Amino acid sequence: MKGIILAGGSATRLYPATICLNKHLLPIYNKPMIYYPLSILMLAGIRDILLISSPRDIGSFKNIFGAGERWGLKFSYAVQENPNGLAEALIIGADFMKNDSVCLILGDNVFFGHGLPALLRKTVRAMKEKGGAYVFASNVQDPERYGIVEFDPKGSAVSIKEKPKKPKSNWAVTGLYFFDSRCRDIARAIKPSGRGELEITSVNEEYLKRGALHVNPIGRGFAWFDAGTHDSFLEASKFIATIETRTGFMVGCIEEIAFANGWITRETLLAMGEALGKTDYGQYIIRAAQNEE
Ligand code: G1P
Repeated sequence: MKGIILAGGSATRLYPATICLNKHLLPIYNKPMIYYPLSILMLAGIRDILLISSPRDIGSFKNIFGAGERWGLKFSYAVQENPNGLAEALIIGADFMKNDSVCLILGDNVFFGHGLPALLRKTVRAMKEKGGAYVFASNVQDPERYGIVEFDPKGSAVSIKEKPKKPKSNWAVTGLYFFDSRCRDIARAIKPSGRGELEITSVNEEYLKRGALHVNPIGRGFAWFDAGTHDSFLEASKFIATIETRTGFMVGCIEEIAFANGWITRETLLAMGEALGKTDYGQYIIRAAQNEE
């Protein structure tokens, strides 16, 4: 399975912070926002990753991640010329995906939860066995802002609507999507929505029509943030700070995950920590490298 991170857009809702800077490079607490979705792909065991961003910003991501080998990853890059919608990522990424399945994650989505790595790996396995589309739904207070899924009494998804004026539920589809290889043709066939975008919700609706959409509600024990506004940025930062301070474990530390997955050696991990100097982040990596197995 391959991974795509979509980190484009102009983030006008975060002006003036994002006039010259891609929002996914701004910190959520102590690390760039992009580390969080990247860590989700890594926890799912995905190493072959396409990063899509705007013409202005793609160079910044290349500077940070290069070919990805430092983390045992393989990075490719592609440009989304205009913010034409999330589903365009599947068209831009078609050659990269070839006939493989894909996990698409939005660059501004932060997930935290006990058992998340197991859930991700279970989803990868289910995808390999059955194909289709796998998405996750989270309970929200402001359903007008998201793709909203309606369930029947048995818990099966019956409809999915993008930013509905009259939401049929409070279950928002998060920005983490697992699709089989059919998604490329589905994305090519959908039409732009009223706001002029190729909606990822239209792709999900097509899978639903084909009886191949699996919606997994993530309930208590999980937190999900879509950090697109000043308030949601701050909220996510405060949450990560509290979790990390109280548990002593970092969320979204890509070096630690690369090591835990066996993709880099202990020596490499130590060197990466030392290169980051006296920062909390660097010291944390050094401690992880020095921990006895
Ligand atoms: C997008 C999707 C929406 C989804 C949300 C999750 O919304 O269109 O269906 O619920 O991401 O982050 P956008 O961020 O484009 O408003």
